[in-house]
Order: sequence, then C-alpha cells, then structure tokens
Amino acid sequence: MRKIDFEKPDQEALNHSMLVQEHLKNKVNDHQGWLSFYDFMNFVLYKPTLGYYSTGTHKIGLGGDFTTAPEISKLFGVAIANQLLPAIRKYKKPSILEIGAGSGKLAFDIINHLNNRNVELDHYYILEISGDLKERQKSTLSQLPKEIQVKIRWLDKVPEKGIEGAVIANEVIDALPFERFKIIDNDIVQIGITFKGSQLIEKERAASPALREAIKNIENDIGRSFTSRSVSEIRVDFEDWFKSINKGLKSGIALFIDYGYARKDYYSSEIDNGNMICHFQNKAHLDPYIYPGLQDISASVDFSLLADSAFNLGYQVELYCHQADFLMSADILESINSETDDEERIRMNQQIKQLFLPNIMGESFKCMLLSKECNIEHLEAVKDLRYML
Ligand SMILES: C[S@@+](CC[C@H](N)C(=O)[O-])C[C@H]1O[C@@H](n2cnc3c(N)ncnc32)[C@H](O)[C@@H]1O
Repeated sequence: MRKIDFEKPDQEALNHSMLVQEHLKNKVNDHQGWLSFYDFMNFVLYKPTLGYYSTGTHKIGLGGDFTTAPEISKLFGVAIANQLLPAIRKYKKPSILEIGAGSGKLAFDIINHLNNRNVELDHYYILEISGDLKERQKSTLSQLPKEIQVKIRWLDKVPEKGIEGAVIANEVIDALPFERFKIIDNDIVQIGITFKGSQLIEKERAASPALREAIKNIENDIGRSFTSRSVSEIRVDFEDWFKSINKGLKSGIALFIDYGYARKDYYSSEIDNGNMICHFQNKAHLDPYIYPGLQDISASVDFSLLADSAFNLGYQVELYCHQADFLMSADILESINSETDDEERIRMNQQIKQLFLPNIMGESFKCMLLSKECNIEHLEAVKDLRYML
C-alpha cells in the first residue's frame, strides 16, 4: 500500500496523542522497555480516558475515520432484523444483545424494523467498551419512541442469566487486540514496541512460548509452515473472549459480521504481510504507530477460529457466507421496491451497491450465523461457504 499523506490533526488532537505517548512510554518502562503488539493495541485503542475508542474522536460514519455498513444504509439493519426474526419468534420474551454498537445506528434500525413488524422485545442490551460511543448510542436511540427506549439497557458485562434470542456483532471482532509475528531464519519473532528517546518504534523479540504454540497449531491446521519474512497476526485470547460472550446467550442465535476469511485463506502463502489495517481520516493504511490514540487499528477475522471456538462450546455453525448473499436472502429488495418516494428509492439503490458489490463489501465481508440450543430453519437462498472453514 502506498504511503498516504494525512492532514495534520488540530492542536488539541496532537496534544492528546502526545499525552497517550507519554503514558504509553511509562507503561513500556514498567515492562522492562518492551510491550507486545497486543498490549500496545489494547492501550492505544481502549485505555480509559486515553485510547481511541475511549475518547471523543468522531471515529465512525460521515466525517469520521471509517464507515461501517449500518452507517451506509438503514437497509443493513432491516436485513439483519429480517434474518433474526425466525429465531426471535420462537421465544415468548426474546431479547437481543448487541456487542460493540458503534454510533447506535444498527440498534436503531433493528429496533425500528422489529417494531414496525409488531415484534416485541423483552430487552435490547448493548455491551459497549467505549464510554464515548455509549453516549453517542444514547443520543441516537433517544429518537425512538419512549415506550421502546425503556427496553434498551447498556451493560459492562453480558446479562448474568443469559438471554433467549439473539446476539449480534458487526465489525467488532476485527477491533479486538491481536499479536503480530514475523518469521526470521525459520524462527518466530514477536512484534512489539519500545521507545527510542521520545520516539515510538517497532521492536521484535523472541516469541513467547504461548505464541509459539498458537502459531504451530495454525501451521498444523493449514498444512504448511510460514515462509521466511512473512508477517501475520493472531488473536491469542479469542476463545476466552468468546466464552465471555457465550455466557450472555442462554438459547438462540449469534450473528457475527466482519471482513475476514476462513483460516486457510487468512494465512494463505499469497498474503505475506498479514491482514492488519489501520484507519485515519477515512483512509486505510498500514502504519499502526502514527498518532497513537487518534487512529483505529484492526485486522481481518479468522472465521475458522470463531467457528472452532463456538463449536467447542456446543454451538452449531448454521451458516458462513458472503455479506451480499446474506443480505440478498433477507428481503431487502422488497423494502426498496415498497419505498414510495422516488428519490429515496434511488438513494437506497446506491447504498446497497456498496453493501453488495464484491470489491466493496459484498464478498470481503462475511456473515457467520451460530445457534445454541435452538433449531433454526436453514436459509435456503444463501450460498453456503462452510466447506471452506
Ligand atoms: C469498528 S466499531 C463497529 C461499530 C458498530 N458495530 C458498527 O457496525 O458501526 C467496533 C465497536 O466495538 C466496540 N468494542 C470493541 N471491543 C469491544 C469489547 N471487547 N466489548 C464490547 N465492545 C467492544 C467499540 O467500542 C465499537 O463500538
């Protein structure tokens, strides 16, 4: 990817980034001069009052650093609500638990659509790590009728008893911290950071035993060793994260949408520079070290890891498919055709192109639908990619 020139952030933002670096440097000093990439990422994204997701930067949507499907079109939320309906209707008091709700736009569109279809939810729970986004979600959802607003609850951990209904997460797994590694002379090195004077720099060291084992497991799985100089990532604590989410679902379905691949493609020999992607000023780039605290860092999702983690906890992997197929089978064309305002219909058609086109989001984004103690009807129209997992 070519080097990108960004506009210089304003002084307030620059001061904040300096403050983040100062605190980061103290943390590095407390850890014998080195932090793993995972710890670095966790700090610059999620450290309360300092991290990218903790502060008031605009982040998502128009004027932000990146855009997500719910920000592009309300039809995304309509489609998801339609796909959740058969499972939700099985329960007398169904609830939805959304993880990482961003601006609250997806929650708004889902709740609105279910309300229009006369589906009553017991609760719509939101598990959100970012204090700033929680406030934005509250403002977005305050536009819903009062009698619906009272059903929305913000949580710091999943509901203790577990809900009956659906768990959803759009573009959340890509934002979970990961380790980065490199192969040098047939050995694994772990990528991390240190400071040279006041400058934040990347520094490698011998990989920890836990990371080595995790990488060996991947190599066994994909049937080849990583080639020299290749760089990649791994979410070492993903299974623990999934276990924590699992506690929130007693019975029902879980839908994860994100950009990513099955493991063999994720760790394909053709991708020798990994799958990390950073976003700043609505541009994608590959430098995680610029403006700490002001930019987003993420990486594609290894959907085989999600499927394995779910399977180990007794879930059925019901579906793994391209986002375009998932949306296409969710009656959203019907929603467009029933729109009576011509201009709005044209706008909707433009928006769904972004969600459907293979080179935009249609194929790079995948949907994985899981079920837990809940029989759901198979979604016939969808091209199933589970054989790739
Ligand atoms: C890339 S944004 C996606 C937002 C939204 N789902 C959308 O599609 O617009 C990631 C979201 O996940 C949240 N998040 C990240 N890690 C989280 C975690 N461990 N638990 C809960 N929320 C998390 C972020 O604060 C943010 O709201």
